[in-house]
Amino acid sequence: MEERLNQLRASAMERLAAATSPEDLRAVDRDFVGKQGSLSELLASVPSLDPKDRPIVGKGANLLKRDILAEIDKRKGELEAAEIDAQRSGSDFDGTLPAAAATRGSLHPLTLVRREVESIFVSMGYEVLDGPEVELDYYNFQALNIPADHPAREMQDTFYCDREGKLVMRTQTSPVQIRAMERLKPPFRVICPGRVFRNEEPDATHEHTFHQVEGLVVGEDITVGHLSGVLKGFLRQLFQKDIEVRLRPGYFPFVEPGFELDVRCPFCTEGCRTCKNTRWIEFCGCGIVHPKVLSAGGIDPESWTGFAFGFGLDRLVMLRYGIDDLRHFMGGDLRFLEQF
Ligand code: DAH
Repeated sequence: MEERLNQLRASAMERLAAATSPEDLRAVDRDFVGKQGSLSELLASVPSLDPKDRPIVGKGANLLKRDILAEIDKRKGELEAAEIDAQRSGSDFDGTLPAAAATRGSLHPLTLVRREVESIFVSMGYEVLDGPEVELDYYNFQALNIPADHPAREMQDTFYCDREGKLVMRTQTSPVQIRAMERLKPPFRVICPGRVFRNEEPDATHEHTFHQVEGLVVGEDITVGHLSGVLKGFLRQLFQKDIEVRLRPGYFPFVEPGFELDVRCPFCTEGCRTCKNTRWIEFCGCGIVHPKVLSAGGIDPESWTGFAFGFGLDRLVMLRYGIDDLRHFMGGDLRFLEQF
């Protein structure tokens, strides 16, 4: 029996040494290790052998199998290296050709639209600001005219980060208004895109993490006309056509008067699913900056006025690309992300 194993080893190794192609290697695999191969045959015969031969043959056959597989691997590497060498020294080898490009990721749809929004506002003279995502309660609420016991806090279920309730995950990008006023000298125009957080049960239109774009303009004699003119100008650039807007009264403690701005549905003329057959789509909250908020930011409300707005970026991206579920944005599913 050992004789037979030695024979098999010798012939397998001989064929491997002589192999010149991947097909040759596969043939050795098939003839020796494969289901119908000689080694499998030998192993199948073990139960019918003399009991004292059984362990010797079983163990020997398995060892041989392992050695053959290792040798196949080694020869495969050698053949590949030889193939590359041959190609390199061939007459048609061109060492100056660029290497095959590595596959690249793509930008998230939120990033694409955010950059578009930023560049439109930059073209209108706005500066793009950033602010902390973990924010002081003071900036997120108090300085925006939402004191601790104010009912408006109920509108935003907040993640508190400490026991005293001084630190929160910001529920809106509006706190950047105060930070901007503290840093900049009027007149100025800024936007702040960023992530915001609320304690929401996720569904197709709600997430614990979403995105807003805040805008703030401080200057002399600012009116609602400036506000709606800027937003209309922005929407025209974004949708590449004139978009009708309407202002409805809306309550936000940091503006007075405050509005909700709706846009004419850009997708239909008679009503559709996106506008829920109303022909209007809610776009943002906005208004004339409350004097208390200007004061909190260190700006004299007797000399300066301003307007502010805040809209959801996620919603805009969903409209732009016809995405029907907000949860795709955070889901990390490559089948979704690769489409952009
Ligand atoms: N921060 C508000 C929200 O998250 C949106 C908003 C409303 C922003 C009115 C503003 C504004 O700047 O003036 O619901």
